[in-house]
Amino acid sequence: MLEIGVGSGRVAVPTAIAGIPVVGVDTSEAMLDLARRRAAPHGLDLTLVRADMRDLPDLGTFPLVTVPFRALLHLRDDERLPVLRSLYERLEPAGTLAFDVFHPDRLDIAETHGRWIEREAGIEERALWDEDARRLELAVRAGDVCAEMELWWTDPDGWRASLEAAGFGDVRAFGWFDRRPLAPGATDSVWTARRPTTTIRS
Ligand SMILES: C[S@@+](CC[C@H](N)C(=O)[O-])C[C@H]1O[C@@H](n2cnc3c(N)ncnc32)[C@H](O)[C@@H]1O
Repeated sequence: MLEIGVGSGRVAVPTAIAGIPVVGVDTSEAMLDLARRRAAPHGLDLTLVRADMRDLPDLGTFPLVTVPFRALLHLRDDERLPVLRSLYERLEPAGTLAFDVFHPDRLDIAETHGRWIEREAGIEERALWDEDARRLELAVRAGDVCAEMELWWTDPDGWRASLEAAGFGDVRAFGWFDRRPLAPGATDSVWTARRPTTTIRS
């Protein structure tokens, strides 16, 4: 399988330990180093590639492509469709793409905007939401170290439309990883979509 935005190997390493060969892609050498260190004691079939999902090298095709922990939110609006098309091309016929995203509601935004909130012991996060642009500037700090990133969201209708325009079929949205139904107004969604055996694209 191919994991995009593999990060520290949080998902990829246990997946490879379970016997599934994983190719993991990330732009960050520092994150790939963490993944290498996490994988090292296990002697795994795990290939780590430094690359950008917006310009993927030829990695072959896979029965499963995943983008866990909202990594597709690193894409601007106009980058979503080209990247989904490229992920489609990385799937074998009948292969599955799986990913999760968030789409905040007004309450989320009002409760968190501009405030430092401790998410894990010693790790704080501050969200600056731009509702019109659907852009989030997220700062994360631990002690003296602070990292900032921009994320862009869209609603479930936007994700479905992009997946269908990219050629995916059997598009399914869930409210969480336990496959509960996606309720109206939900702030997280988990998606699966298949590359059909015959390609039809709008
Ligand atoms: C939220 S982390 C998810 C890490 C891992 N998948 C997990 O579930 O723990 C998102 C990852 O995406 C990577 N990333 C951000 N933009 C990227 C891009 N354009 N192409 C590939 N990876 C990217 C980041 O470096 C980061 O490691």
